[in-house]
Amino acid sequence: MKPVLVVDFGAQYAQLIARRVREAHVYSEIVPHNISAEDVQGKNPAAIILSGGPSSVYEDGSPKLDPKILELGVPVLGICYGFQILAQTLGGRVDKTGKREYGATKLEISDGGILLSGQPALQVCWMSHGDQVMQAPAAFQVLASTETTPVAAFESKEKKIYGVQWHPEVKHSEQGQRVLENFLYKGAGLAPTWTSGNVIAEQVEKISQQVGSARVICGLSGGVDSAVAAALVHKAVGDQLTAVFVDHGLLRQGEAEQVERDYVAATGIRLVVVNAEEKFLSALKGVSDPEEKRKIIGREFIRTFEEAERKLVAEAAKDNTPIKFLVQGTLYPDVVESGGGVTAGIKSHHNVGGLPDDLQFELVEPLRTLFKDEVRAIGAELGLPMEIVSRQPFPGPGLGIRIVGEVTKDRLDLLRKADAIVRDELTKAGQDKLIWQCPVVLLADVRSVGVQGDGRSYGHPIVLRPVSSEDAMTADWSRLDYELLAKISNRITNEVEGVNRVVLDITSKPPGTIEWE
Ligand code: XMP
Repeated sequence: MKPVLVVDFGAQYAQLIARRVREAHVYSEIVPHNISAEDVQGKNPAAIILSGGPSSVYEDGSPKLDPKILELGVPVLGICYGFQILAQTLGGRVDKTGKREYGATKLEISDGGILLSGQPALQVCWMSHGDQVMQAPAAFQVLASTETTPVAAFESKEKKIYGVQWHPEVKHSEQGQRVLENFLYKGAGLAPTWTSGNVIAEQVEKISQQVGSARVICGLSGGVDSAVAAALVHKAVGDQLTAVFVDHGLLRQGEAEQVERDYVAATGIRLVVVNAEEKFLSALKGVSDPEEKRKIIGREFIRTFEEAERKLVAEAAKDNTPIKFLVQGTLYPDVVESGGGVTAGIKSHHNVGGLPDDLQFELVEPLRTLFKDEVRAIGAELGLPMEIVSRQPFPGPGLGIRIVGEVTKDRLDLLRKADAIVRDELTKAGQDKLIWQCPVVLLADVRSVGVQGDGRSYGHPIVLRPVSSEDAMTADWSRLDYELLAKISNRITNEVEGVNRVVLDITSKPPGTIEWE
């Protein structure tokens, strides 16, 4: 499928633009701003979108665009900084007027043209810029203005070049998605054909070709990415795939069963379950340092997986169909951001469920071009259990890093009960979709005095950490309804023996991380 290329000028918006394009059911890919016209041509794009960026076109060393890209005859949309690059490159005028526009801004459309057709003449859009486009390039039509920006949008139907000063990818821009859709459907003549069904068909075909008649293995973590990746591979090559599920005993209530029973029933996948709870717990005995725990869990996971893998390799060798491939649930944001996320160095995200670097297999990565919401949509289309498909992010080291203190079986069971109550009440209150995730943490090293029944108690606190977030890089604490919080607190202190206090974490990230360890 021909991609719409989103040229990344270095702000955080490129991924958002790529996602919005896909929400319009058109396939998009992100490329760096220093890409050459030849490389763009090599990708055979259906259209190009120039993203916003933090720079001013006047700054020394500000990111530039190879001007030949604008001569390829491919439809182009410039956004914010990308809009100013277009103005500057094509002979318009960009001035540093000292007038800035940030946030919600009133926009007046003088002539809808193609880009703004069918939209209200007055609307609110989201701006974030210092310089202004004072004059559009010759033969370009000016479409809209604001109080401080005389040229807030322009287009040339003949050249198929379009631009807006504001950020249509941001939800605060009232008509944002329609601007993008006008560009894609009318400006570039594209059809909305990027759908879950098409993606599945395309991936299944690709996997079959890559794998041929060889065997494949895959690790299931209980999370949505590995579940969908494995289901796609299974759809393509059936029983040539064997999935391995290492149950490290650090999962939440019901999660192991969801994989072993419901997921297998839905897919028919051949699954090897390794029950490694005792092994993990004895390795974690006496350890309360968070980094130490993470390292132990990561190490044990790899060892356990490799042991299972060796057995499978030996079995496969007997009947002369060797295992050649390993499935990984790498997502598109990981590909774009490879080079390490912001959190690198703060905690060792060794990603249990992820695997060692030196494996002797070729990788099959069927989610490499997909965003998380697309992975969920595909999972749903493939008929996977909704508990897995809509699961909130859960760290690889599991409840091991949600017990502050030593990890023991009793403490895990206690935390599982409290966590199940929280999930149950959040679901009943319809809050699942409103929060990003809600870690439930046991402060096992802390005890406080309480009064329960007829006497004094000396129990542990449970911490609720509900957060809202776009990508887990930053987060805010969720303002949950007081009645809901009261219900959760009541149920936990009544139903979970050993807990006499429930505490709400009201720290944003930064400075707090989402997980406590
Ligand atoms: P923090 O605590 O760093 O978490 O704010 C950010 C996001 O990452 C998840 N997380 C992990 N995920 N392996 C994972 O796969 C890990 O070791 C890990 N540690 C944290 C966390 O749940 C949140 O969504």
